[in-house]
Amino acid sequence: MTGSILCVPPLSPLLRDEVGRRYDVLDLPVPDRDAFLAENVEALSEVVGIVCTNAGPVDAALVAALPRLGVIANHGVGYDNIDLDACRERGVVVSNTPDVLDAAVAETALGLLLATRRRLVEADRFVRAGRWADGEFPLTPQLSGSRVGILGLGRIGRTIADLLAAMGCVVSYHSRHEVPGTPYAYARSATELAAGVDNLVVVVPGGPATEALVDRPVLDALGPGGVLVNVARGSVVDQTALVEALEQGRLGAAGLDVLADEPHVPASLRELEQVVLLPHVGSATEETRAAMRRLTLDNLASWLDSGRLLTPVPELSS
Ligand code: DGY
Repeated sequence: MTGSILCVPPLSPLLRDEVGRRYDVLDLPVPDRDAFLAENVEALSEVVGIVCTNAGPVDAALVAALPRLGVIANHGVGYDNIDLDACRERGVVVSNTPDVLDAAVAETALGLLLATRRRLVEADRFVRAGRWADGEFPLTPQLSGSRVGILGLGRIGRTIADLLAAMGCVVSYHSRHEVPGTPYAYARSATELAAGVDNLVVVVPGGPATEALVDRPVLDALGPGGVLVNVARGSVVDQTALVEALEQGRLGAAGLDVLADEPHVPASLRELEQVVLLPHVGSATEETRAAMRRLTLDNLASWLDSGRLLTPVPELSS
């Protein structure tokens, strides 16, 4: 099929270059998106596909502005940036990049668990500030042997669970449905899960169904000794309730790869010693990002050649 591909920012230069080497490309600007849509009607009428990441919104207005749009290739496993109802109405299909990033995101979750529970980042600051000579860094709780709850036992959640089990952690989980054939205990709600663990790892998909799933009751169930790790989406955690719980000592620590309004980080979070903050780097390893680029472009090529996607999102794949 002939036509052009719309790149929705932000895209990494490597991904943007690869798309540009293969296709005629139109770049959506970051500011003045509406003006661009109004002023480029002819060029937009040639667009048959979109390449985007979870940080680039593809809303109903954008879908409506592209009369020939047939496919959206999302570089990422989560696709809460895309208005699926608008796509369904127009018959636009959507692909994501499952499986290839499980190990990288699981590593990030493990890193955040170690960094928060063992206070590794605080310990680094302690050494750099020259405080070691004045006395020892305080003892910390251990991760091995502790109880970890996985909120969302999908592919990534299962990878995290298996790594933690290998470290001697006692793993349990909550998902919308009990997952058959796992060795891990099932909790019937997020609050029940949090009440029975020392650490809670959030790995459910973002979107309206999980908005503020981790709220004050869940944080209080985790309690003053508890650690929260979020590698899912900022929207899944009530960030105001999280800051209050940490400030008031009702929660022990938090390791966050994702935030409510990325890339903006409230000062209230930055000021808390017991919080470890990452700039949404869950999948950001060289190997994994190369595999994600490949799968994104393979999906696009497959749809353009045969009308089929390799990894369609389940909601639109029937
Ligand atoms: C994704 O791909 O959706 C994740 O956020 C990567 O970290």
